Amino acid sequence: MTTTAADPNRAQDRDSGTGRTLSGRFYADPALFAAEQEKIFEACWFAAARSRELAGPGSFRTATVGRESVLLVRDRHGTLGAFLNVCRHRGARLCLESSGQLHRALRCGYHAWTYGLGGELIAAPNMDAASGMDRADYGLRRVHLREWLGTAWVCLADEPPSFEATVVDVVTGRLGDRTAIDGWRIDELELGRRLVYQVAANWKLIVENFMECYHCATIHPELTEVLPEFADGYAAQAYVGHGAEFGSEVHGFTVGGGASFPKLADLRDEHDRRYYAITVNPQAFLNLVPDHVILHRMYPVSVDRTIVECDWLFSPSVVVAGADLSRSVELFHRVNQQDFEACERCQPAMSSRAYRGGGVLVPSERHIAEFHRWVTERLEQ
Ligand code: FES
Ligand code: FE
Repeated sequence: MTTTAADPNRAQDRDSGTGRTLSGRFYADPALFAAEQEKIFEACWFAAARSRELAGPGSFRTATVGRESVLLVRDRHGTLGAFLNVCRHRGARLCLESSGQLHRALRCGYHAWTYGLGGELIAAPNMDAASGMDRADYGLRRVHLREWLGTAWVCLADEPPSFEATVVDVVTGRLGDRTAIDGWRIDELELGRRLVYQVAANWKLIVENFMECYHCATIHPELTEVLPEFADGYAAQAYVGHGAEFGSEVHGFTVGGGASFPKLADLRDEHDRRYYAITVNPQAFLNLVPDHVILHRMYPVSVDRTIVECDWLFSPSVVVAGADLSRSVELFHRVNQQDFEACERCQPAMSSRAYRGGGVLVPSERHIAEFHRWVTERLEQ
């Protein structure tokens, strides 16, 4: 999350402002998690899936958004739609698979109501004119959808917050320039690898961990080797426009810093040899490096369990050529494992009496307080 246009090398920017964390119950109370489902995950724009994967007509994917299952499907005109995955007849879940290919229509497995790829009800056994029902009234419930950065963002709210203000401005504001993100051309990148992590921790512990680098020297030896400034513990993402610079002997964002792939074709020189992390509340993390992008999407399951889907995205030419991605993937896979293990280490203590009043934010973690404010303000709405 972006906070200020401060300079990470200025002493006053590094050393001012301590504070408290949220109290333990925010991470352990199922009632608070239920409130978050309603007021955060079902109210904000939610990075549900990689839209580029839903390539042709009938291609679909389901995603859990808050307490709902959402069906994303591309229609025969190539337009992506998002719907609640609920049959309008008697409520059966329509699509049981997580992804796949539909052939012209989607048939409910209970009484065979059949929906077109645009969500319209096209057939229902025995529903003739005499029934008095109009099929047009029983199409699937549509939810708001935006495609940006090759990602399908959905919002379940009747009146969504501004996508520009809550997603686009967050990303562009972090980079300090409205067009800088275009250099990575994320919507054209190809999925090189996807790993799914089952994390036994509250989603906010994962966000907080991603936002700070106070832990980097302790748990990320491979990452600090590539990004030496991370060993100092100051979170690059708290500073507008700042990307952590590769070490002088580092040739690529890989384990050991060995060379990887050429920088993306449209990347500006000023973004070369740098790593940018961006948090898009509530559940997407972007990691930008010169030759690829790593995108995390979190799917909170319960107060103490979160599924994290992590995509490594590369230039299509790299993926089509069948290049060996393993050294690039391995670096952030290790970072993920190290981070999630740390979050899991904290989770049991969230219900300890020792943590009833919460913990402390040191100066280099002060920007996390802004995330805490963001959470509590939404819960108060
Ligand atoms: Fe779907 Fe009856 S519940 S057709
Ligand atoms: Fe980390």
